[in-house]
Parts: sequence; C-alpha cells; structure tokens
Amino acid sequence: MSTRVDERPGGQPSGAPSPGGAVLLEARGVTMRFGGLTAVNQVDMVVHEGEIMGLIGPNGAGKTTFFNCLTGLYKPTEGRVVLAGKEIPPRPGLVVKEGMARTFQNIRLFGNMTALENVMVGRFCRTSAGPLTSIVRGPKYRREERETRERAQELLEFVGLGGSTELLARNLPYGDQRRLEIARALATDPKVVLLDEPTAGMNPRETEQAQELIFRIRDNGMAVVVIEHDMRFIFTLCDRVLCLVRGEALVEGAPSVVQSDPRVIEAYIGSPDVDESDEELDAEIGSELHTEREEGR
Ligand SMILES: Nc1ncnc2c1ncn2[C@@H]1O[C@H](COP(=O)(O)OP(=O)(O)OP(=O)(O)O)[C@@H](O)[C@H]1O
Ligand SMILES: [Mg+2]
Repeated sequence: MSTRVDERPGGQPSGAPSPGGAVLLEARGVTMRFGGLTAVNQVDMVVHEGEIMGLIGPNGAGKTTFFNCLTGLYKPTEGRVVLAGKEIPPRPGLVVKEGMARTFQNIRLFGNMTALENVMVGRFCRTSAGPLTSIVRGPKYRREERETRERAQELLEFVGLGGSTELLARNLPYGDQRRLEIARALATDPKVVLLDEPTAGMNPRETEQAQELIFRIRDNGMAVVVIEHDMRFIFTLCDRVLCLVRGEALVEGAPSVVQSDPRVIEAYIGSPDVDESDEELDAEIGSELHTEREEGR
C-alpha cells in the first residue's frame, strides 16, 4: 500500500459505513495497570485498512493510555497488539518503522527548530544514512538530505503549512502546531496514524480544516484512529467509534449506533440517580447528537 500523500485537495467523507478492508491493526485484551489502578481493562479494537476509527470516553477513561499501549510507549500488563499481521516490537521507534505514527495530547515538537526541520526529523526513520555517512556527508547523504527536505516541504503544504516552513515551531499558533505534529507523523510513511485530541484548542474553522485533513489522509491510503471529545467532529468523521469508560470498552459500532446508546449518553453526563429532569436532558443530548450527524453528512 502506498502511503505517499498527493496534492489533491479536499478529501470527502465516503458515506460508506465501513470500508471493509483487511485488518491492519488489532488489539486483543489490552490491559494496563499502574499499581492498583487499572487504567485500561481487556480492551479489544480492530482497525481496517482505509478506516477512520474514533475513540471516545470521559476524562480519565484510559484513551491516551490505550494509545500508549498501541504505540509501544507502554508495554501492556496483558494483551497483544498486532500491526499488519506482526506483533508490535517493544520500542516506540521500532513501532514507527513498522508503520504506526502518532501525535500527542500534549504537543511534543522541537520548539527551537523550524517547522520544516521538525518534519525532517520524522523522515529520518526512513533514510539509510548512518552516523558515518552523516559525518562524511558524501553524495549519498546529500541526496537523501535533499529528498528529505523536499518531502518535508510537500507534507507541510499537504497540512496547510506551506507558508510557515522557516518559522520556529514554538512561534506557531496552537492549531498550526497540531497540524505540524500531523505532518511529522506523516513523514514516517505510516500505514496507520493515531491522533490524540487533534482539535484541542482549535477554533471551529480550524476544526473543520482538521476534519478535512483527516479525510485526505484516509484518501491517501492510511487508516486513522482519532481520540476526541468533540462529538460533532467524531460522529461526522469516523466509520466506527469505540467508547471507553473507566478503562473498559462500553460500546463499539457505527456512529449512529454509538451516539444514540443510552450508556454513552449517561457516561458523558454521569447520572447515577436518574430523575425526570435527567431523562429530559438525555433525550435532548441524544437528539442533538443525531441532528449534528445529519447536518455533517
Ligand atoms: N503513567 C501513569 N501512572 C499512573 N496512572 C496513570 C498514568 N497514566 C495515566 N494514569 C491514570 O490512568 C487513567 C486513565 O488516564 P488517561 O490519560 O489514559 O485517560 P484519558 O481517557 O486519555 O483522559 P483525557 O480525556 O482526560 O485525556 C487516569 O486515572 C490516569 O490518572
Ligand atoms: Mg487523554
């Protein structure tokens, strides 16, 4: 599968419920304990080629911890993660080489490097220049450097940062920093991209652009797993959605199924003692989610 992005504008939602491609990423029984706290408990997730999968759940549900298990940052206490038919290697750098890239909830850029340099860093896992080649700086090194630079520029344009190439990452507006992180992830030529709250801190226009960007990433042959709290964003973007609550998978399915599931609504508004006014609120939120999805399609 080619993961090379092209320049065609404006990917659109397919409208198809699920692309039905081959299984690309599979998590089985993933559990992560920190001492006495079980942050993730026996979670299964399957992501197919070309699919956009949403991961939702209230604060502290275990979403980021689950991402950390998927990407090799944490070794799960139990369970396994398989990418393209192979169990993931034990180190994040090796997982990236296998074709899984991510962004972080708390942006992790090199603040004193330019936007272009940040993306070039992501690209280095695909270059062959070893330490000796880098010191000698022979023709092979120079060719790879030029190609890396060109590819980084192309990716900055793809995410809409073509005009910010030489700006220091720390001077970019927040929304641009998030897009820069996505460009750096794409530079590793991933098969699947994991995005942890990509629209946090974005205004509505930037959020819309982020949505359009994720569709284009999918249109370029990559699968995407995205964590978000913005329900309008998730339910218009994703083919399937998995809702975690207190570390456990509560519901998984098409957006239309998940958004109308009373357990999901309850998890978000937290109503241990349902009285009449709570029920009215549930109905209101449920119908609002439906309306948002219909508007988004
Ligand atoms: N390294 C850690 N050590 C101990 N506890 C942790 C660690 N990382 C996360 N936790 C705990 O695990 C639980 C799940 O946290 P996590 O950050 O995965 O939630 P989340 O769903 O991403 O929440 P949010 O929506 O706020 O980002 C929380 O109770 C958190 O305090
Ligand atoms: Mg989180």
